[in-house]
Amino acid sequence: MGKLQKKNAPIGVLDSGVGGLSVLKCLKEALPHEDFIYVGDTARTPYGSRSEVEVRTFVGEMLDFLTAEGVKLVVIACNTLTVLGTETLKGNREFGLVGMSKGERLVLEASRNKTIGVFATEFTINSGAHKAAILALAPTACVVPQACPKLVPLIEGEQFSGEELPAAISEYALSLKAAEADTLILSCTHYPFVKKEIEREMGRGVRVIDPAQQTALDAKAALAADGLLKSEGEGRAVICFTADPERGKRLAGRMFKTEECEFSLVSLK
Ligand code: DGL
Repeated sequence: MGKLQKKNAPIGVLDSGVGGLSVLKCLKEALPHEDFIYVGDTARTPYGSRSEVEVRTFVGEMLDFLTAEGVKLVVIACNTLTVLGTETLKGNREFGLVGMSKGERLVLEASRNKTIGVFATEFTINSGAHKAAILALAPTACVVPQACPKLVPLIEGEQFSGEELPAAISEYALSLKAAEADTLILSCTHYPFVKKEIEREMGRGVRVIDPAQQTALDAKAALAADGLLKSEGEGRAVICFTADPERGKRLAGRMFKTEECEFSLVSLK
């Protein structure tokens, strides 16, 4: 592929389901001239309670799909996949991979008492990656990791108004409140869909941080470093799901205007 052709290629974005749309929102804002192709594996979400072998197989299939689309960069808009290590996911693919920011600098800047909660999937919490990143910068910080396995199914199922969502959030907030965390990072890309509900539960004294904006800046820097930033034209987004694209479209509408986007059902096999 020639340099100009490569510059005009789309950016791939992937997640286990609709969560990565919260990252696509920030990517669209930071990179308005770029085209995006998003793939969300809504047929097999959630990934966060699955084994590493399964998750590696699924992400390989999504990367193969995006390779066939001729992407110039892939943003792994999923913390569960990011903690597998972008280098091992990349293999010998020609495009670069940008994973989710762990947000360690963001939380340490935001926190006054250096007591920081991490909400994420079981898989991400068990990896210890976020805790390690924060402690590497601030060894005396107190990190409170909390797996939140009920949240992804509730968000994917559009269960925003029932009793279950606030009950689950209250349950997960307990450990953070007991430790008096003043900052909480949302280290699963689905959770920004319920950021307001989480903020309400945590109360005014707690800063709730979404690392998606930082991730979008990281993607922009990676493109700029390779001379692949597109600086003109209006970008468009093609959004693909492995099941129920109508539901995906409704959920996307909670993040950005969907009129300009194309939605479709795809098979990864
Ligand atoms: N949205 C994903 C993350 O950031 C994964 C959620 C899941 O499939 O469990 O971790």
